[in-house]
Amino acid sequence: MVAHLQWGGMDCVELAHIWETPLYVLDEGIIRSRCAEIRSDFLGRWAKTWACYASKAFLTTGMACIVDQEGLGLDVVSGGELYTAIRAGFPPYRIKMHGSAKSERELRLALASGVGSIIVDGLMELELLDALAGEVRRPPDRRERPRIVLRVAPGVDPHTHSFLITGQTGGKFGLPLEDGEGSLLSEAVRFALSSKSITLGGFHFHVGSQIFENHAHVEAVRRMVVCMERMQKTFGFKTRELNFGGGFGVPASPDKPHVPLRFFTDAMMGVLTEECEARNLERPYVTIEPGRWLVSDAGITLYTVETVKRLDGVTYVGVDGGMADNPRPSLYGAEYCAIVANRPDDPPAGKVVIAGRCCETGDILIRDVELPAVTRGDILAVFNTGAYNFSMASNYNRLPRPAVVLVRDGWADLLVARQTWDDMLSGDSIPERLLR
Ligand code: LLP
Repeated sequence: MVAHLQWGGMDCVELAHIWETPLYVLDEGIIRSRCAEIRSDFLGRWAKTWACYASKAFLTTGMACIVDQEGLGLDVVSGGELYTAIRAGFPPYRIKMHGSAKSERELRLALASGVGSIIVDGLMELELLDALAGEVRRPPDRRERPRIVLRVAPGVDPHTHSFLITGQTGGKFGLPLEDGEGSLLSEAVRFALSSKSITLGGFHFHVGSQIFENHAHVEAVRRMVVCMERMQKTFGFKTRELNFGGGFGVPASPDKPHVPLRFFTDAMMGVLTEECEARNLERPYVTIEPGRWLVSDAGITLYTVETVKRLDGVTYVGVDGGMADNPRPSLYGAEYCAIVANRPDDPPAGKVVIAGRCCETGDILIRDVELPAVTRGDILAVFNTGAYNFSMASNYNRLPRPAVVLVRDGWADLLVARQTWDDMLSGDSIPERLLR
């Protein structure tokens, strides 16, 4: 019998036959082992710490249940993510509401559902939130008021794709970490401290995503401690919470070693502890928000090979998915690895290009991968698609969004059903005047 690729104890060819392709397959065991690493190597190692999964990487109601069972918090960034979490029964007090342009409706939903904190991105949002919170009730005790954290852009360069840098000054996120009176950040702190409706917990930064060095994270912590000291001196404000964001990288190839969380968190916590001691500041509570790191390498995508073309020395392997289910190669030049799931042990026969099926020259999933001779009907497995694939999928070319299957120890369950053509039409309507 020919060995097939196994994922979470399941035969990938069988999965492809049962649920069809393209198919996202997530190994629950890997996700849970990442959560266990967070507990042992961060929460258990450092006092006054907390971790929230950045759900933008991958969120369904089932995923929210796993995160809940693992005892972590959830970072949500929109009404839709918040609603998903609530519908999954995720405890609201463990949710952090993010977003760089939250609507009034989203802020009202966050307040009404009692999320643990709202990460405020700018002054205008702060004023609106203060007004909305004031409409409900104004508990005299600050601790009972909705808690906010101010997002700060620490102005560090994390060496990643320019689209994935978020902590630079002059970017669209947060309040720049500028010194001195009259800066936007000082104004925001002054406003928040004088509010009767909300309470300021501290600061948040997120330097960027898919980062493999820890210098930028560490430098951001250093700068934040200087900021905390300044805020304490100027306003008498003691920072109770400092949120380090996420950004911890995951290598493209499954053969490369997993980057331990401690590589980032030990470095940041060490510097935070030292710098706080040196300045005689109380070390605040620390939150991290890993997204990709928790879920990326748990995921693979299965495709069926539809066509093979040999042109001018290049072999194009055309599959039944592409930028609609994984826009990352065309958006960021992201690299992926693949194998033939129905013949993983066959010897390589040369380099090929894996071409997506969308009507775009740029829809190339992998530019250069060594594969055995491939033919129509083969099942291709692309690794490392657990993060920012399903969550960024589109219906371009009216391609239905693939199903998501959760596998563990030889069991497979559906997390999300494949969209049907009718699902895609469900919002369409034909105006009366067009019906002739
Ligand atoms: N916290 C905040 C405030 C964030 O903005 C992000 C990601 C995270 C945490 C989680 O970052 P992670 O640990 O996943 O790197 N679509 C891009 C990634 C954009 C990430 C944006 N913010 C991609 O596919 O690579």
